[in-house]
Amino acid sequence: MTIVYLNGAFLPLKKATVSPLDRGFMFGDGVYEVIPVYRRRPFRLPEHIDRLEHSLRGIRLASPLSYDGWQSVLDELVLRNAGDDQSIYLQITRGVAARDHSFPVDCPPTVFAMSTPLPEAKPASSSAGVGAITLEDIRWQHCDLKTIALLPNILLRQQAIEAGAAEAILVRDGQVTEGAASNVFCVVSGMLITPPKGPRLLPGITRDLIVELAAAHEVACREQVLTTETLAAADEIWLTSSTKEIVPVIRLNGTPIGDGTPGPVWSRMNRLYQDFKRQVHAGAPLP
Ligand code: PDD
Repeated sequence: MTIVYLNGAFLPLKKATVSPLDRGFMFGDGVYEVIPVYRRRPFRLPEHIDRLEHSLRGIRLASPLSYDGWQSVLDELVLRNAGDDQSIYLQITRGVAARDHSFPVDCPPTVFAMSTPLPEAKPASSSAGVGAITLEDIRWQHCDLKTIALLPNILLRQQAIEAGAAEAILVRDGQVTEGAASNVFCVVSGMLITPPKGPRLLPGITRDLIVELAAAHEVACREQVLTTETLAAADEIWLTSSTKEIVPVIRLNGTPIGDGTPGPVWSRMNRLYQDFKRQVHAGAPLP
């Protein structure tokens, strides 16, 4: 039975209810995080909580819990649910109030967290690679905030699916920003390139870990503007996220990338990433 956390209580998912006047439901007025859990330990929790607090500040909502408060809620949630490897979804909205665009006064936020089993990343399927298409980035000016208002991302992802691809790679003013629900890397002449952080993209936790692993293992890596031309001519393209890790793109807009199979830099980075996770599994102190 799935146990969730809602406003201070742990209860079965079936018993968890939220008012239709919740501003998350009415306006998409809230933020969220998705945190992988390995061996019952949330992975990179400080980084996820830092980003959550950045998102909360960005929508001018006070953080309802301290770092220790979040940690104890999430630890208990993980304990109360099945599976060593899980995926936590954490959402905070501006609460329940009469419908009015302006902020409600003295309104407690709605805090919801659930955990689902994390399927073991299947090396065969992820290493088979996926197709992606480029689409105009139609989102707003604050894509660094992880808000629950995901309609543009949903429409873009769906357009990719209907074109027979797995992800939309978004482009603004000729520059690649990120995927509909992922960050983007490419490899050009052995150099790993990913767009620099800023308001146009989510500062992905997986992205940052890859940049760190590249530095630690002498994989040449630059955070720099990535044009659509550079992307189209790249030897490798990857999509990264906490739930899917590092996924090679083998076709862009119907054209093979490199030789149309996952490339050698992806293989190396994927190994480094899996080794790093194994160290965490083995109980090494969390970096
Ligand atoms: N999304 N960019 C966007 C727009 C995303 O939605 C995500 C992840 C990422 C990757 O971030 P991270 O490495 O921290 O997961 C980048 C999650 C998984 C989701 O919405 O389900």
